[in-house]
Formats: sequence, structure tokens, C-alpha cells
Amino acid sequence: MKILAGNANLPLARAIAGYLELPLTDASVRRFADEEIFVEINENVRGEDVFIVQSTSYPANDNLMELLIGIDALRRASARRITAVLPYFGYARQDRKPGPRTPISAKLVANLITEAGANRVLSVDLHAGQIQGFFDIPTDNLYAAPVMAADILARYGSQDLMVVSPDVGGVVRARALAKRLDNAALAIVDKRRERPGESEVMNIIGEVAGRNCVLIDDIVDSGGTLCNAAQALMSAGAKSVAAYITHGVLSGGAVARVAGSALTELVITDTILPTEAARECDRIRVLTVAPLIGEAMRRIADESSVSSLFD
Ligand code: R5P
Repeated sequence: MKILAGNANLPLARAIAGYLELPLTDASVRRFADEEIFVEINENVRGEDVFIVQSTSYPANDNLMELLIGIDALRRASARRITAVLPYFGYARQDRKPGPRTPISAKLVANLITEAGANRVLSVDLHAGQIQGFFDIPTDNLYAAPVMAADILARYGSQDLMVVSPDVGGVVRARALAKRLDNAALAIVDKRRERPGESEVMNIIGEVAGRNCVLIDDIVDSGGTLCNAAQALMSAGAKSVAAYITHGVLSGGAVARVAGSALTELVITDTILPTEAARECDRIRVLTVAPLIGEAMRRIADESSVSSLFD
């Protein structure tokens, strides 16, 4: 078993390697003058079970290209099996045609990864479970829920706890987490535009007054969905609102938006390397999923069950 790290999130790759008590494979990634990416693996990987760790986070296209070129280098170096480990699978939100003459980029990226030579894929909290079906190779989708549930129970306990989905699309994810939290109550923020031209109204489905609300989602990008939901919950009488989101994309002014929001805390995981602004924001905390990913990799290498990690 060997681990090759892309440059998207070296601290996470090192933490995974530390969990598995393995060194990272010696490789270098260089740029030509015109920004072309060049990957060179500096040790023998012939016949090895190789895991390449690379989130396709910002800058998404560079990180994706580095992943594809790394896979190609491994294939040509005769690796026995190549697993693309994408803690964050960028482009996942483009998983359907939102209108005529638009792409399904998540499928295109899945094709590119497969065509480059990956034999398996391992990811965390895919935006939609169906994305596994975009790959015709085995795909494991891990859940950050056990890591989050342990933290929520330690911080808030299960009394007065209300798990909240910030939109109707996230209900399945929120319900799964609520189940892990001693079957905590569930509420939903339902955004609706009653009439064209009128501004959106936030309806809360569920009784949140006096509750410690925990918003659950897979991605926080601009922070708009989250901060608006937090405000709506406070206006509905919630005692406090925190948020647990797997992938901290946090682009543009998201960190400032979170800092100025009604949230007591935003907890993200390290599937994406947090920016300096995120690290310095005292309202944002990062949980690691390195042991979770490392354990899944160990089980894949041993041909043992990955799903039992979530029993
Ligand atoms: C949407 O389906 C996702 O689950 C997130 O709610 C969304 O990507 C968050 O985006 P933003 O932070 O820009 O509102």
C-alpha cells in the first residue's frame, strides 16, 4: 500500500499517512513556464496498491488536472491498483442539467478520472449519493456524520437539541445525523418565493423555539444559505444556532459573512485545506476526518468492509 499526495491538502494527506503509519510516496509536482503540470514519482510503485489523495477544491481546475496527471503517471509506472481519494469532490454540484444546453460536469469529471486510469474512488459526503453511479468503477462514499455526532454530543448533549436542514434537499443527510444523536428532533428551513418578483420567505418546518439548533449541510460556499437559515431560526425563537458542514469551500467573503452572522459556531472538516482567514476566524472550528479516511483506505487495501465503519 502506498500513498501519493497531491498539493491540494498536504496536511490532510500527511495526517492520513500518520494514521496508517506509512510515509508519503516520494514524488514531485512541477510547473512548466506556461503553467503545464508535470508529475514525477521518484520511487518504484510497480505492482503496488496506490492511493492518490487530492481534493478538487480551489483552484478546482488545477487540482483536478494534477490528480489526472498523477493517476496517469501511476498507471504508466505499473501500479497494480489506483484509488483516487477525493476528500472533496469538486464539480459535484453540477450533477444534473439545470436548463437546456447545459453540461453535467460531475459526470464529465467522473469520466476523466476513470479514463486517466483510476480503478476505485473514495470520497466523503458526496453532494448527492447518485454521483457514485457516474463512475463505472467501485466508489466508496464516506460520511463525516460519526465525527460530527461525537463532537455535537460532547458540546451540546442531546437535550433541547434540534437538527436542522437548511434546505429541503438536505433532509436525508440531516435525518441520518439526527438518528446518531439519540434520535434528536428534526426541523427544515424551507425557502419559498410566494409570487414572482417577491423576495424569498424562510418558512421553518418544526418547533425550534427554545432549542439548541444544529444546521447540517455538505457544503458551505458563499455562506448565504447557512447565514440566512441561522437568522431565520433565531427569529423563530431558537436558543442558539451552530452549524456542522463537511466541506468548507468558503469562497469570497464567506468567512466575514459567518463572523457577522447569528451562528455561535461553524464547524467544518479538513476535507478542504482551510484558508488562513478561516483558520483565524474564532467562529470557525475544524474537525479532522483523517482517521476516517485512513481507516477506510486500510480496509480497502485489506479487502475488508468499509460500510461497517458506519454501523
Ligand atoms: C446546496 O445544495 C448545497 O448543499 C449547499 O447548501 C450550498 O452549496 C451552499 O452554498 P452557499 O454557501 O453558497 O449558499
